[in-house]
Amino acid sequence: MRCAICKKKAEVYLPHHNLALCREDFKKYFLKRVKKAIDDFKMFEKGDKILLAVSGGKDSLSLWHALLKLGYDVTGLFIALGIGEFSERARKIVKEFSDKNKTNLITVKLENEFGGNTLPQIVEKTRGIPCKVCGKIKRYYFDRIAVKENFDVIATGHNLDDESAFLLGNILNWNIEYLAKQLPALPEEDGFKKKVKPLIYLTEREIAIYAFFNEINYNELSCPFSKKAKSHFYKESLHQMELSYKGLRIKFFKGFLRNQKIFGKAEKKYSLSPCKICGYPTSSEICGVCKIKINLGLIEEEK
Ligand code: AMP
Ligand code: FES
Ligand code: ZN
Repeated sequence: MRCAICKKKAEVYLPHHNLALCREDFKKYFLKRVKKAIDDFKMFEKGDKILLAVSGGKDSLSLWHALLKLGYDVTGLFIALGIGEFSERARKIVKEFSDKNKTNLITVKLENEFGGNTLPQIVEKTRGIPCKVCGKIKRYYFDRIAVKENFDVIATGHNLDDESAFLLGNILNWNIEYLAKQLPALPEEDGFKKKVKPLIYLTEREIAIYAFFNEINYNELSCPFSKKAKSHFYKESLHQMELSYKGLRIKFFKGFLRNQKIFGKAEKKYSLSPCKICGYPTSSEICGVCKIKINLGLIEEEK
């Protein structure tokens, strides 16, 4: 097979676009797709300060690489959760990437924030559900750091597979509120910073190929708590459908983006106000993270 652009030997075939590409043209294609998502949804512009949440996995590291190639001002933010070997490897890999690419990195170590407790210890002591506690804490620090360090926008590595699986789940369960909020760029609102997902036009496979072609070393271990059974099921179902109907996933997701306004009128169930302890936007008096700290005896409620 020949590359559709330069006619040299192709190394990749992308069935959903019926496109064969050589290594160099695939890299260019990837960067164009990232740039298109950024521009289509006015995610950010050159000169904006971008805080990229990096987990050490292939998505966020490939995105970091692509944003640097495209000339954006990006700083990585890694939350060291303290989940044994999984987090330790991620930490080393993220540090290695930032050193190699001479780019800024902010690391938040949970143990320093939670009186010496790692995520598994916090979960155990507060009897929480790991992924819920983890998600709450991560979102909290993404926003806090972005506000404190004056970033314009927070980017994450969510890709087309993630977003279309989430969409399918939201439709099957008629989560209108989530459908109304499932935007590739969420504006700054209610005291939260703007949040964007520049990888929405790229599949997991394309991202893995980009990482391979650019020799990006990433953490292949998965989180021992990860049991997202439902989202795996939706992802797998879409994969199966894609096998018989090439391009279905991107068509499904792009169709949603065109029609997303239909869901735009979902009412907000509660209003947000600043947490009386830390100032983070919350629907109750005290935010979820401060409640964890109170639960652990690290701060007092009436402070
Ligand atoms: P996940 O929910 O694990 O698929 O992660 C989704 C996105 O959240 C990743 O692409 C990253 O942008 C971000 N993320 C996940 N874990 C971390 C972490 N420990 N530190 C910083 N960002 C993270
Ligand atoms: Fe958060 Fe696994 S990465 S619980
Ligand atoms: Zn708080």
